[in-house]
Amino acid sequence: MTQAAPEALKGEDWAGDMGARWLASLDRFEGMIAPIGAALLARADYKPGERVLDLGCGGGATTLAIAEAVGPEGAAVGLDVAPMLVERATERAAATGSAARFVCADAATATLDEPPFDRLFSRFGSMFFEAPVPAFNNLRAMLKPGARIDLAVWANPRDNLWMMEMMGVVRQHIEIPPAVPRAPGPFAFEDLTYLEEVLAAAGFSAMTVTPYEGEQPVGGPNASPAEATDFVLGSMAAGRLLEEHGPAVRDAAKADLLALFNRHHREGEGVMLQAKAWLVTVRA
Ligand SMILES: C[S@@+](CC[C@H](N)C(=O)[O-])C[C@H]1O[C@@H](n2cnc3c(N)ncnc32)[C@H](O)[C@@H]1O
Repeated sequence: MTQAAPEALKGEDWAGDMGARWLASLDRFEGMIAPIGAALLARADYKPGERVLDLGCGGGATTLAIAEAVGPEGAAVGLDVAPMLVERATERAAATGSAARFVCADAATATLDEPPFDRLFSRFGSMFFEAPVPAFNNLRAMLKPGARIDLAVWANPRDNLWMMEMMGVVRQHIEIPPAVPRAPGPFAFEDLTYLEEVLAAAGFSAMTVTPYEGEQPVGGPNASPAEATDFVLGSMAAGRLLEEHGPAVRDAAKADLLALFNRHHREGEGVMLQAKAWLVTVRA
């Protein structure tokens, strides 16, 4: 039985505070997850002429790459709920002469004024729906029958040391509420059985999954331990939780985060910590 995420839990405020934080550190966020984006793009293997929708495109880095692959006879459209990210993505396309286009709308409810798409892509943009089955149903209506979708979603936090170790440090200083399985957020689809149930209930089938495992640079390639610490405190959930506490607690946590990142720093690479994601393919 597919269980929806608990009703009381609201997703992150991407159209507001979370979108602004992502934008403020866009290069660092994109640099951090670039290896996973490259793996998902290689798996999707777009061909000239394909029409591709990039769900939760953020600042549009992957949409620009898709536009390049599908060429002028194809289409790459980025869809995102955060107006400030769509604005930045549109500026980037204009600055680079890319044919990528961007639409600001909530993918859970939007109706696009577009012919149906051959393909849907999403690097970490599909885990934030408060009601995922209706949202994926809505997305299926934007696709041709049989269209292929390729998603990257985070695997279990315990296999994502970039998250576990940083939260472990913060937990030494403040109480962190326990994670709620399946709640909208980065780890909503860590459980592949649940993801398959959601996708099947929304009319998708033939799911295949390849695990992605590798190190990723916290705060982007070549970030120093101090830069990675400032990035985490300013942009990530760990930092948001600490903001509710006084300076003594924040300073102590900051010192411990810096020590953690010093231990994982490699010259010429950055603060490297293990990450695991699922690369998921399914058909409409
Ligand atoms: C973790 S970011 C990933 C951004 C981008 N895919 C990337 O990899 O650089 C998640 C993105 O999903 C978008 N998002 C979250 N919920 C959404 C929704 N209901 N409809 C459209 N976009 C959404 C956010 O605004 C954000 O840009």
